[in-house]
Amino acid sequence: MPAEEFVVTPYEVKGRIDYARLRELFGTQDLDAPLLERLRRIAGGELPPLLRRGVYYSHRDLGAVLDLFERGSPFFLYSGRGPSGPLHTSHLVPFELCRWLQERLGVPMYIQITDDEKFWARGGLSREETARWGMENLYDLLALGFDPARTHVFFDSKSIAALYPLAIRVARRIPYSTVKAVFGFEPSTNIGLVFYTALQTVPCFWPSWAEERPVPCLIPCGIDQDPHFRVTRDIAEGLGYPKPALLHSQMLPGLLGENAMSTTGDRADNALFLSDPPKTVERKVRQAFTGGRTTVEEQRRLGAVPEVCSVWALWRTRFARSDDEFAAVTRDCRSGALLCGECKGRLLERIHPFFEAHAAARERAKEWAESTIVTAAPKPL
Ligand code: TRP
Repeated sequence: MPAEEFVVTPYEVKGRIDYARLRELFGTQDLDAPLLERLRRIAGGELPPLLRRGVYYSHRDLGAVLDLFERGSPFFLYSGRGPSGPLHTSHLVPFELCRWLQERLGVPMYIQITDDEKFWARGGLSREETARWGMENLYDLLALGFDPARTHVFFDSKSIAALYPLAIRVARRIPYSTVKAVFGFEPSTNIGLVFYTALQTVPCFWPSWAEERPVPCLIPCGIDQDPHFRVTRDIAEGLGYPKPALLHSQMLPGLLGENAMSTTGDRADNALFLSDPPKTVERKVRQAFTGGRTTVEEQRRLGAVPEVCSVWALWRTRFARSDDEFAAVTRDCRSGALLCGECKGRLLERIHPFFEAHAAARERAKEWAESTIVTAAPKPL
């Protein structure tokens, strides 16, 4: 594959991603400063780091959802996770934004745990494993601080009775030729995956269906998930539901220097799992790929390159507390004043307490996780 080429679909991320180009290819809108300022004004206070530092960079119809919100029609939030193993820090990106929006705007949150999806999409995972990881992942997500009274979970295998009446209607509107073109399916693709996109669409419409009025939906997600929701948006009107709006984030680089923190294929060292003990965290960060030079002398002279550095990406998402601190790390990295070893040491001082606090919150979330799972349809088939 030539250097300038890349592939991004929900099932494959390959090559060096040019995010501006990807936005053009997908036909999404630029998340520009005036729109961010508008969101800041409506939410009050300061925007979170993920919005201030460009990790979220693209959207569909965010302005329209904010218009409705200001006119008294609040939206609900929706995001999800296809469980295949433990959660790592990059998996938190959509949910951290959702938690902030829920806290600021008091809106409901729907989380989908697709314990069927990765069983269909990948070999080597048993049903017991995807279901078990689904619950483990759910504890981690709820631990971010969602409001138990306003948070609802579709856990596919447990919630199928709630999802299926709508899934039937959704699936009838999606021709095979669409999913084949959108997801790049092959003749050997199993038919579970062919149907799956219908299930990922259902939560977008579920509140409108249940409440018998149009309820706007806003989906924070990685831009790799956009293809699913292009399908959703195409069929929304025909079913009489509003098109979901989206907020897209970039993928964050893995610790081994890859363009996403994926651990598929036994690459546990590419990511920081939330369950990693401090020693493992230390080892992974210490060996992480950076934008540094081969010798100290060279780095002092030429400076390093933050944009390619997996450690800088961690500072960027959440570990730099203020924009001033983030600007200082970036500047000192680029100038050669800050060497990689020292930078990693400072970052570790932030990661350890974050992981500790998370573990405690996760234990508390276990107590109410089961109660959030939606199991019944609001009305008959
Ligand atoms: N397909 C997503 C994954 O592989 C899981 C998912 C389900 C999701 N519903 C979603 C992601 C809504 C974002 C938004 O992890």
